[in-house]
Amino acid sequence: MTFKPAKWPRRLRSAEWFGGTSRDHIYHRSWMKNQGLPDDLFDGRPVIGICNTWSQLTPCNGHLRDLAERVKHGIYEAGGFPVEFPVFSTGESTLRPTAMMYRNLASMDVEEAIRATPLDGVVLLVGCDKTTPSLIMGAASVDLPAIVVTGGPMLNGWFQGERVGSGTHLWKFSEAVKAGEMTQEEFLEAEAAMSRSPGTCNTMGTASTMASMAEALGMALSGNAAIPAVDSRRRVMAHLSGRRIVQMVKDDLKPSDILTRKAFENAIRTNGAIGGSTNAVIHLLAIAGRVGIDLTLDDWDRLGRDIPTVVNLMPSGKYLMEEFFYAGGLPVVIKRLGEAGMLHKDAITVAGEAIWDQVKDAKNWNEDVILPVEEALTQQGGIAVLKGNLAPSGAVLKPSAASPHLLQHRGRAVVFEDIDDYKAKINDDALDIDETCVMVLKNCGPKGYPGMSEVGNMGLPPKVLKKGITDMVRISDARMSGTAYGTVVLHTTPEAAAGGPLAVVKTGDMIELDVPNRKIHLDISEEELIERLAAWSPNHHVPESGYARLFHDHVQGADTGADFDFLKGCRGSAVPKDSH
Ligand code: FES
Repeated sequence: MTFKPAKWPRRLRSAEWFGGTSRDHIYHRSWMKNQGLPDDLFDGRPVIGICNTWSQLTPCNGHLRDLAERVKHGIYEAGGFPVEFPVFSTGESTLRPTAMMYRNLASMDVEEAIRATPLDGVVLLVGCDKTTPSLIMGAASVDLPAIVVTGGPMLNGWFQGERVGSGTHLWKFSEAVKAGEMTQEEFLEAEAAMSRSPGTCNTMGTASTMASMAEALGMALSGNAAIPAVDSRRRVMAHLSGRRIVQMVKDDLKPSDILTRKAFENAIRTNGAIGGSTNAVIHLLAIAGRVGIDLTLDDWDRLGRDIPTVVNLMPSGKYLMEEFFYAGGLPVVIKRLGEAGMLHKDAITVAGEAIWDQVKDAKNWNEDVILPVEEALTQQGGIAVLKGNLAPSGAVLKPSAASPHLLQHRGRAVVFEDIDDYKAKINDDALDIDETCVMVLKNCGPKGYPGMSEVGNMGLPPKVLKKGITDMVRISDARMSGTAYGTVVLHTTPEAAAGGPLAVVKTGDMIELDVPNRKIHLDISEEELIERLAAWSPNHHVPESGYARLFHDHVQGADTGADFDFLKGCRGSAVPKDSH
């Protein structure tokens, strides 16, 4: 695949606002000049938007104002005109009911903000989980040149002499307190030790996964994903990305040139190798939908099935992102895929070069962090896509985070009708449940919650934890935090609130999970299933009005990315009904 750069100089889109002497041109320039901008910034040079997800309510992106300044240095140096603006910032740790409910809204904000303004290209300043996919989705639907700069992960957490992984240890400590292995005082003390520097979660959670996906897709410069937020090289990365976007505009190198089927296949395989989050499935499907690539759940299973997980990071492994960076970071992993014949080496990246040219000289400096293939955490990394009468359109499970002895399991269902039902029952010692049971949670999918919360890794009952058991099979239509672990079947589709078979599972039914054969089966007859579905009626809460209602009515299934039906596709950069 070769990309042919456009001719330069040429008249850019921003000239529609700034490039003339009409009343409207004067109007657009004059108001901009109240910010103290000299005349020559409006001389036809590329105008670069910096979409900034900085927000004090998105603590993981709290340092992005500084990075935006670094991006501006690079843009000025390369002869561009930077303009920074705020976009909806989806802070994972603060937004309720779940940041996922706002991913699509943020993508609309970004799409419309780019199209409506005099921009020729954009830098997407992101970090926390949903900020990365939402900005890529929005930019992809406009298709002006775009480059991703992530904020980078936090430094390692340390507590009582051990590494503490963001999220991963929150779940571990919480279970340890329930099991009587840790005091509440120690848990409170650990709070500050978990998050001790600016940046995103330091585990291979969703933020690090999506940063890696952006790099593997070719939407970020090589090496971007792993540089810690506070490392001076993160600022250099921002600076260089600022320089690069100006040339991308001159060359007219757009997301549609980069986000090809080959790029998505590279990203799916990379996700297997890093032991990435199940959330990447939903986000990549949604991004693909914006650029018209027919990516499916089956692609995830087919491409990820035999990828060994070699990145030894929590939640699947031992280390954290800081060590991944010191070991060489994502270029080492992508190079490995290339050497194993599992990479489309010619996929074009924001650098204007094939991805292979970007990674071929990468070196692994720590084989305990980026493991040799023979010592992989699992030889079957990636995402297992399960199908059967319980999930006709699919469900997903992350084998590297699951317990090997539960990957083939048959057990009695214990059903929770929704998350409130779960919370009301789970701590009750009278609940008839043991470690052989299968916990089933309904009404937590995109429509049901609404927003599809990360509650799929529901905690085990205390009476099971006290026996020293740490994992059970759990099935839901929810998502799971990328920092979490367990034998957890997620994204069951169609979801319960949409009348999927999950809605009619009853306590006492037998359920069979068979990950090697990609099967999930509710052990009742077909007739009985049809009867139960015919008698079913929705019992989830339907929001009356506002954005929540729009979300409920237009969100699609997790199997296609949970995007809104009316947002699929690329609408380009032309301003609708432009009156000028
Ligand atoms: Fe923001 Fe994890 S909560 S990156």
